[in-house]
Amino acid sequence: MAIYRILRIGDPLLRAKAEPVKKITPAILKLLRNMADTMYDASGVGLAAPQIGILKRVIVIDVGEGLLELINPEILESEGIEIGVEGCLSVPGVQGEVPRAAKVKVRGLDREGKVKECAAEGLLARALQHEIDHLDGILFIDKVTRWVENKNEGR
Ligand code: NI
Repeated sequence: MAIYRILRIGDPLLRAKAEPVKKITPAILKLLRNMADTMYDASGVGLAAPQIGILKRVIVIDVGEGLLELINPEILESEGIEIGVEGCLSVPGVQGEVPRAAKVKVRGLDREGKVKECAAEGLLARALQHEIDHLDGILFIDKVTRWVENKNEGR
């Protein structure tokens, strides 16, 4: 088990665009494992590779339904709008309301390189949009419509 240091707001790597993964190598598998360890250690519900300084399109999510690992995730379809409260492990101490699509269909690769499609709503849809934004250097604070009092959660 290895825990990465999570970059905080102000670090330019959080604002960079991540590169697609071309080949699933042992290094990518190790990255996935260590990202999950880091997310669980920080009690987050999601983590994107740029948050640990690795500019690859890799995310991990667990909203309480088990670990979801996605490589090169893309949003194929989105529907509706829902406002919900978000935080981020890279922006400690703040939370805000962010409008997101209520439902999304996402496609990516799993750790075996197989195409994986998932239709999500609720917290999972929100987490997917939040983490995929990280891959393009977008933070939830860019999209906050109302700040709320901190409840010390992160993703
Ligand atoms: Ni985040």
